[in-house]
Amino acid sequence: MTAEPILLSDYAPPVWLVDQVSLTFRLSPGATRVLSEISFRPNPDRAPGAFRLDGEGLRLIAAAIDGAAVSPVIDASGLRCDVPDRPFVWTAEVEIAPEKNTALEGLYMSNHMYCTQCEAEGFRKITFYPDRPDVMAPFAVRIESDLPVLLSNGNPVAAGDGWAEWHDPWPKPAYLFALVAGDLVAVSDDFTTASGKQVKLNIWVRPGDQDKCDYALDALKRSMKWDEDSYGREYDLDVFNIVAVDDFNMGAMENKGLNIFNSKYVLASPQTATDDDFARIEAIIAHEYFHNWTGNRITCRDWFQLCLKEGLTVFRDQQFSGDMRSHAVKRIEDVLMLRARQFREDNGPLAHPVRPEAYVEINNFYTATVYEKGAEVIGMLKRLVGDDGYKAALDLYFTRHDGDAATIEDWLTVFQDATGRDLTQFKRWYSQAGTPRLTVTDDFSNGRYTLSFEQKTPKTPGQDDKLPQVIPIAVGLLNPNGDEIVPTTVLEMTEARQSFTFDGLAARPVPSILRGFSAPVIVQRDSTAQERAFLLAHDTDPFNKWEAGRALAKDVLIRMISEGAAPSAGLLDALHRVAGDDSLDPAFRALVLRLPSEDDMAQSLVDSGLTPDPGTIHATTRMLKTAIARHLSDLLPRLYADMACPGPYRPDAGDAGRRALRHSALAYLSRLDAGAQATAQYAAADNMTDQLGAFACLLEIGAGAAETRAFYDQWADDRLVLDKWFALQAGLAAPERAASTVKTLAKHPDFDWKNPNRFRSLIGAFATNAAGFHTPDGAGYDLVADWLIRLDGVNPQTAARMSTAFETWPRYDADRQDMMRAALSRIRAHPGLSRDLGEMADRLMGA
Ligand code: BES
Ligand code: ZN
Repeated sequence: MTAEPILLSDYAPPVWLVDQVSLTFRLSPGATRVLSEISFRPNPDRAPGAFRLDGEGLRLIAAAIDGAAVSPVIDASGLRCDVPDRPFVWTAEVEIAPEKNTALEGLYMSNHMYCTQCEAEGFRKITFYPDRPDVMAPFAVRIESDLPVLLSNGNPVAAGDGWAEWHDPWPKPAYLFALVAGDLVAVSDDFTTASGKQVKLNIWVRPGDQDKCDYALDALKRSMKWDEDSYGREYDLDVFNIVAVDDFNMGAMENKGLNIFNSKYVLASPQTATDDDFARIEAIIAHEYFHNWTGNRITCRDWFQLCLKEGLTVFRDQQFSGDMRSHAVKRIEDVLMLRARQFREDNGPLAHPVRPEAYVEINNFYTATVYEKGAEVIGMLKRLVGDDGYKAALDLYFTRHDGDAATIEDWLTVFQDATGRDLTQFKRWYSQAGTPRLTVTDDFSNGRYTLSFEQKTPKTPGQDDKLPQVIPIAVGLLNPNGDEIVPTTVLEMTEARQSFTFDGLAARPVPSILRGFSAPVIVQRDSTAQERAFLLAHDTDPFNKWEAGRALAKDVLIRMISEGAAPSAGLLDALHRVAGDDSLDPAFRALVLRLPSEDDMAQSLVDSGLTPDPGTIHATTRMLKTAIARHLSDLLPRLYADMACPGPYRPDAGDAGRRALRHSALAYLSRLDAGAQATAQYAAADNMTDQLGAFACLLEIGAGAAETRAFYDQWADDRLVLDKWFALQAGLAAPERAASTVKTLAKHPDFDWKNPNRFRSLIGAFATNAAGFHTPDGAGYDLVADWLIRLDGVNPQTAARMSTAFETWPRYDADRQDMMRAALSRIRAHPGLSRDLGEMADRLMGA
């Protein structure tokens, strides 16, 4: 690796501040001209220094200071220029070629439409600028183009034939700049804010997609209302625009007043989108909208503070989804995701703190740790200071830091000032990487119950010694008859080892530990199958009720794998009871019936001191599924029939939960009836949830050839649905056929690999097919490495993100480790490798 890392400890405030930016875009695919007029002034809080602007891949046509031409010194990352020691106006004209921009960062083209992606450091590919988040300014933008729709940030000022002007009064960093120009149509609505301001809402899409915007628009209005009700935050411009684009590296982007979305997270109709798609659209619309306050009005001082806006905004979107749907179900889903992505990251070579201290390429740090662990840290903080303390702290945060580029120190100081609580030790959650292991033992004597905890965080790259962290452990106690005798209490653990006692108990209680998953830790406790089944039956905390079932299933799978044990009757009976318990939310029952993923099992085996074999995990999981199907055979047809949703499709949580349970019943049923019911459902389906659900059941049992052809014929013209077609085949192919299936699909005329969604749907889905990716011959590793190298040439950011497919190599046997490392070495040695993928390959290999 050649590039030097950027260090948090090197932070220095900007030498020059910006008072005002005016930009003019003369759009042309091969030669767009960008004229900039930027008012600079020396930063009074800093010693004077050199004038340097970031800029990459720009052709400078002319530059001037206060109207007098200058000749700056240009290098690969920007320019230097002699400037006066006082405020001045910089003007420049540069030329760029959006049609050649395949990296999808800066100004690029997608389906003949111009769009931008500037976070984190894409603005420097548009013009010369101090491209750092602590330089904030109001922007005025003029767009010149024949295209009918011309959009930028802020409010529209004026427009005429072939031009439009926009003004964004709120000072913002360049990463929130956006421009869109295209042949677009809007689906519109209005929102009146709490203080009576009218806001025009538009979702801009390609003609023909208007009928797929209703859900996103509704989610937007609900988000706006929710942020007023829950955080007292109102929207602050006359318009809120959302644009859907087909080529997008990420999910969506919160540009001020002009959010740009991957079309996958906007467009939805019952026929083309699944229940999960609807839920994700709702969450992402909310997430980007919530950034208007947590990210835009208050932004980050530097990119090390990324969790300040992302962790908080994820936390907020999780709260929102919980309020809109079910808190219990949402919490379980969030923890499933956290474990699948963040625990996996934390256990491997890419482990890093929620606030990293060094990076080479910042795009590589938009990670599960920054986002999801970042959100968990806020959840812990809220639990520690209470709901009122949290509210007081957030109110103070918004009043004290509005208009600021803030830090994690600012954030924690607000909590200290609002609640009086010392957060010195708590701050370690931001600086220590790794998932703490919490070992629990208990004792009962003379009516006194003692819970003892020990916390230990494993070494992570660059961090050998870990200090004890503050761990809020929510605990409840149950009587042996199933009654709760101690309701949820939060134990605050601060030491490496600590005990807590409960007095006056008549009998030894059953503990329910880490209720609601009150901290992102791994609980290690010797427990029995009986105790787990007991908690699954009686725990009043829905998360721990589910967790008990999950732990039971994991224990059974581990014993099946390591000892060749038979599927335990205890688990089968427990699943039967839950599945048939109509007093339980169907969505919850569906989650209990979902077995741990094969990747999750691989990590669980490692945690138990075993070496996972993905083929064995796959075969064993299937065996268990068949055993469950047989044991539930009396129940499945009734469940399947009862959970049908009468009436037209509705994407709400109630119906979605019923369909989820119905599909778990169908998946088990398919193992008994060779897919007869699934085939019938596929044929009758009038919505994508039912169609895709049935299709998946068929692929899972190695059937569905006719449906595979029919699905393609039906949906060949719908890119988003076709993504699902690629993803399902790659993700569900039997291990021994997976690599060849993917190779065949990669030759399909619709495999447009330069489109990130399509690439992810084939290569990304294959990498999640654990047994297929990890076949003993190493074919999966070679396949993914080849594609990452190829993609890196056109889109480094997406290639780098997907290289995390290799982050689990330390888990496996020596042969697999060697092959995975060899694939990484090959990537690393590739000439002309990007900084993005280069940094990832280095870190993955522990270099
Ligand atoms: N600010 C990010 C988008 C982003 C990430 C831009 C990385 C550039 C580089 C946005 O707010 C975001 O976090 N989007 C998520 C979805 C969200 C619901 C977590 C995404 O795109 O995956
Ligand atoms: Zn975000």
